[in-house]
Amino acid sequence: MKNKIINFLDLGNQPLANSYIKNKNINKKERKYRLIICFNKRNKLVSIKNTFSSKDMFDDQYPYRSSTSKTMSFHLKKLARDIKKLRPEKILEIGSNDGCFIKNFDKKKTIGVEPCSNVERITNKKGYNTYSEYWSPKLAKKILKKHKKVNLIFSSNTISHIENLDEVFKAINIILDEKGIFIIEDPSLLECLKKNTYDQFYNEHIYVFSYLSLNKALKKHNLEIFKIEELKIHGGSNRYFIKKIKNNIKLHKSIKFHKNKEEKYGLKNLKTYVDFAKRVKNSKKKLLSIFRNCKKNNKKIVGYGATAKSVTVLNYCNINNSMIDYFIDTTLDKQNKYTPGTKIPIKGYSDLINDKVDYVFLGAWNFKKEIFNKEKKYLKNGGKFIVHTPYPKIISK
Ligand code: TYD
Repeated sequence: MKNKIINFLDLGNQPLANSYIKNKNINKKERKYRLIICFNKRNKLVSIKNTFSSKDMFDDQYPYRSSTSKTMSFHLKKLARDIKKLRPEKILEIGSNDGCFIKNFDKKKTIGVEPCSNVERITNKKGYNTYSEYWSPKLAKKILKKHKKVNLIFSSNTISHIENLDEVFKAINIILDEKGIFIIEDPSLLECLKKNTYDQFYNEHIYVFSYLSLNKALKKHNLEIFKIEELKIHGGSNRYFIKKIKNNIKLHKSIKFHKNKEEKYGLKNLKTYVDFAKRVKNSKKKLLSIFRNCKKNNKKIVGYGATAKSVTVLNYCNINNSMIDYFIDTTLDKQNKYTPGTKIPIKGYSDLINDKVDYVFLGAWNFKKEIFNKEKKYLKNGGKFIVHTPYPKIISK
């Protein structure tokens, strides 16, 4: 197939999303790349064009902590409860972060893999068996030397961060028991297109998977998806249950249902992506006009949740410190730093409480429910939020 990889969206020059800037480096030149999104007509994968090595992105300075959100902690706790019912002898988690998932299990039953050593240390210190290494066939063999094959492998918001999917699935085949189950959770491409959440794309999110593309990539390695659960988390994610093809578990009815849904929406057709790109361009115009209007009227705007995702929005729309006074974020490692590219100061939560602001731009839109719940008083007192998804608008009570 000629020209099988087609670029359909250009989100401009972007810094690395999780590279929050320290005060002493504020005038230093940042590393930038062109964020272009493409569609592979042959294998249906949607990915970013210019990628970085895992070592460049996931190091000992990684700021993200799964446990900072109650929604995420509760979500993983609930899944752990369901998994316990399957009575797995050994559970392996790829991308175990600060232990938000594995902490729900007996220490002897889990193996964590987390290459960001600053985060990995958190679980290791608590006595969890965690490897501070990148997921690879070599690591899978190393683990196999010490442990038996595992019955259950879980990975949340991590597989889409790894460019070489062949190596990922080769490694899975090494360590997964013949009757074992591999569960992946990742943002859903269908939901991303429906909700215009173009900020699901940044340097760490190399892929945004659909069932169609992920299953194709798995089948090359004699693995297949046998059940899908649609989740609300992160603006709409899918939980894919995967098995070895040889394992004769029946395909669940959710497979046919989801496959039809994706095909009907047009995830196999380039036109769907070209249309999405048009909506994204309009979204930028609309968001900018909201910000400009607010500033024309001398309104004070702050940001809520200095997410990696919002780095894409801010840099694509050229929204900087002249529009947003500061961001607040509960993650200690982000506080007293600046947002990548747009250099907006990041403060702690208490700064917002003690301040009088007119508008709050919701960077952590994926935790809207949790945040609106927490900020009832702000809304009740006339406070307003600015959101960009599903389309830019102002929300008030
Ligand atoms: P998240 O959207 O999970 O990730 P990403 O960085 O991958 O886009 O990050 C949520 C961020 O929002 C995280 O830095 C913590 C912050 N946050 C708050 O500051 N307050 C809150 O109440 C919540 C829910 C999140």
